[in-house]
Order: sequence, then structure tokens, then C-alpha cells
Amino acid sequence: MNSRTKYYLSLLITVAVYFGVSNVVFNKVNDTIHIVIDELFHIPQGLAFCERNFTYWDPKITTLPGLYLVSAAFLGSYFQCNVYNLRFINLIASCVNLLLFASILKFVYGSNNYFKNVMQALNLALLPPLYFFSHVYYTDTLSLTFLLMFSRLCFTNRHKLLILIFGLASVLMRQTNIVWIAMVFGHKALDIFIRSSRVFGNQNLTKVKLSKTSLIARDVDSSKLKRYYGLSDFFVALKYHVSTCMITFFKFLSLQDMLILFTHCIILSSFVAFVYVNGSIVVGDKKAHEATLHIPQIFYFLLFYCVFGLPYVLTKTLSTFKLMITNKLKIVFLGLLFALIVHYNTVTHPYLLADNRHYTFYVWNRWFGKFDYAIYATIPLYVFLLCNLYDNLRNQNCISFLLPYSVCLFVVLALQKMIEVRYFLVPYIILRLRFVKASNLIIGFEFLWYLIINIVTFYLFFNKEILWKDFNYAQRLIW
Ligand SMILES: *[C@@H]1O[C@H](CO)[C@@H](O)[C@H](O)[C@H]1NC(C)=O
Repeated sequence: MNSRTKYYLSLLITVAVYFGVSNVVFNKVNDTIHIVIDELFHIPQGLAFCERNFTYWDPKITTLPGLYLVSAAFLGSYFQCNVYNLRFINLIASCVNLLLFASILKFVYGSNNYFKNVMQALNLALLPPLYFFSHVYYTDTLSLTFLLMFSRLCFTNRHKLLILIFGLASVLMRQTNIVWIAMVFGHKALDIFIRSSRVFGNQNLTKVKLSKTSLIARDVDSSKLKRYYGLSDFFVALKYHVSTCMITFFKFLSLQDMLILFTHCIILSSFVAFVYVNGSIVVGDKKAHEATLHIPQIFYFLLFYCVFGLPYVLTKTLSTFKLMITNKLKIVFLGLLFALIVHYNTVTHPYLLADNRHYTFYVWNRWFGKFDYAIYATIPLYVFLLCNLYDNLRNQNCISFLLPYSVCLFVVLALQKMIEVRYFLVPYIILRLRFVKASNLIIGFEFLWYLIINIVTFYLFFNKEILWKDFNYAQRLIW
């Protein structure tokens, strides 16, 4: 058997086992509870669309109707419209996600180690909050499927029409996906921006003559183009392009690139048109999603990284401390900056304080909200985690990714008042796909860690009943 066959065979077996085991959990979820929190409006909406009643719209829903349209496409004729089948769409989507993770990982890390590749794809599918939402009728899993499909297509840049379709469809699932589409656009454009400055600004590479004093001439990179660029490369490129009025930027652009960037622009401008016509980014219940500046969300995202990226955090701990010691002054400055942000910008959404069906409620009420010093006491951890994350990303990531990513992370998280674990899923998955090549030990650790968390959380979900006066059935604890 050649390695290609082995790869596809092991992938197939993994998906089959994943589906088989998840199906057992899935049935138990079905037996446990019929409406999980937000399903209260997702399910009636899905059922209405499934029964071809497209005029019904619950005003409490804040996303576009992507999930319900997909439900209507698959259910209603051969398959019955019921809660079980609606949720089942997400279980199937999570299997597709596993395949897409494997396919994307092959691009990121190369295809020489098929076992590692498949294991990492499985780990990603098992990422606990994502795994949980693969068993209920929420938008997160299916929305990720479309976003992954879009990213996978962008790796090869071959099928422009499909890129357009999946890009638009992913926004139809969740509006925030537009930000990640903008990130791909920014990444691509910035890459060309920096590269063209180095090609045309470098007299050793081209015949374009530059004055010896020009900034680019000083930044001669005589061997060949670097693979990863730093922030300074970006500033050098910016100065160069400003001085030449962007002329060489367009010279460097191939027709292929032009078409791809144009495709992204169509998606982005349709979204702008939608926001203009709709008057807001959300549809329906605008009050629940009021936009506020909420920078500590970035810190909570670092905590998410600490919990779900634990194997990566631990392997880099020593080198992170070394990094912090050599940059003492910057670290102190960062700590002070974080303290100011935490002091002036810690806000709580009333739902967070009242809804005891989410883990965030317990984290808040047993730590952040309980002790006056808690929000400050966590700052050293944030600083450490930020350095640690940087340490995990720096060696194989270009500024052309890190810069758009940071901007998009800020836009997606720091403008949300509500803290929800599932908001961190996409940003974390993007990072996870970009960490340094993991060893077998890390991947094994990650797998066991996710398994334990999933077992504990599902155990609590099945066994811990939370009684709410206004519901006649017991509520359950979820992410
Ligand atoms: C799902 O749950 C419902 C209600 O408890 C039950 O009637 C149905 O048989 C269950 N479906 C499966 C496939 O177990």
C-alpha cells in the first residue's frame, strides 16, 4: 500500500470511528433534553423552514438564515422535519469539518506524515466547545464548515466561483465570518505588498535602479526572498510603496491574484451593502448584541488558549520565561497597559451574571466577580499567555498573517459585550492551524486532554439538572 492510500484509509477509519462514537453521545443528548438554551428559537425556526414556511421569522434570532436554509435543503422531503434530524445536520457537518481540517493541515504542514495529520484533524474536531455544539442545533458547527471550505479553496486559489459561493454562504451562516474573509483578503494583499517592495525595491533582483540611500536599497536581501517577514519589513515596504505611489505593487500583481482579490472584494462589498440596507450588522434582536468596546475579551481569549492549547502552552513555558526576562522593560509596560484596560474596561453583560447554564457564569461568580482583586490578580497570567502565544507563532508566521489576524481578532471580540466561549472557537482554530509543527507527544497529550474535558462536560450535561422557574423541564450546563 502506498502512503497516499494509507492516508485516505486512515482518514476514512478515523471519521467512521468518530461518527460511530459521537452518534452514541448524540442519541443520549436527544434522550436528555429537547431544547438546549438558544435552541428555543433555532428549532422552531428550523422546523418552519423545513416545512417550507419561509415567511415565519423569529425576531429574537440575530443571525442570517443560513442554517435554516441548509436544513430546508436536506430535510423535508426524504428526511422528516424533527429536532433529531435538525441536530443531525450539525453532526454530519462536524464529520465534514474533520475531513476539511485534515485537508488544510496537509497544506500547512506538508503531507509526509499522514498519521500526525489525521490525529491533529481529529483533535480539532474534538475541541471541546466545538464538539459539544456538534450535537445540538446551533449555528457554530455548520458555519465553521463553510468557513473551512472557503479557506481550503483559498489555499489553491483555483476555483474563484466556489470561493465566492462559500464565502457568501459562510456569512449567511454567521455574520462575523465576514471578518475572517477580510482577514484572508488582508493576508493576500499584504503578502503582495511586502513581496513586491522587496523584488522591485531590491536592485540585486531587478534592473530597477534605486538611489543608494533609499530605504529598500539598504534592506538588501541579496540571496532570495525571505519566507517570513517581520513588522520592520512591513514598515520598510510601506515607505517604499508610498514613495513610488504603489506603482510596483500593481506590477507584481498577476492576473490570477487580481481575480482572487476581486472575488474577495465582491464578498466584502455585498456585506457592506447588506449592513447599509439593514441598518445594522445583526438582524432581529439588536438589544442582546449591543456593540461596546470590551478589550478584556482579548484576555479571556488568552485564557481560552491556556485551557485548550495547554499542551502548547506547557512546551513553550521555559522559553517564554526566557523571552520575558530578556524583555523585562516591555513586559512591565505591557503589565501596566493591561492593568489600565482591566481597570477601566471590565464590563459585564446582565446575561453573564444571571445565566447559570454556562461555564462562564461559574468562572465569573467564583473568581472575577467574587473578589475585588481577582481581575487584577489575573493580569500576570495574561502577560505570560500573550508572550507564550507569540512564542508559539513567531517562528513560522509572517507579519502578513499576524497583522490582519490581530486586527480581525480585535474586531470580532473586543466589540462584543457578551462573553461566550463559542465566540473564541474560530479565532483559536485559525491559530491552532498555525502553531509550530507539533511532536507526537504534544498531539497525544492534546487528544487525551480533549477527551477528558469532553467526558467531564458531557457527564455534567447529562447529570446536573438546573431548575428554572419559567421552564417545565430541567436546564443543562453547557459551554
Ligand atoms: C429522540 O428523542 C425523542 C423524544 O424523547 C424520541 O421520541 C425519539 O425516539 C428519539 N430519537 C432517537 C433516534 O432516539
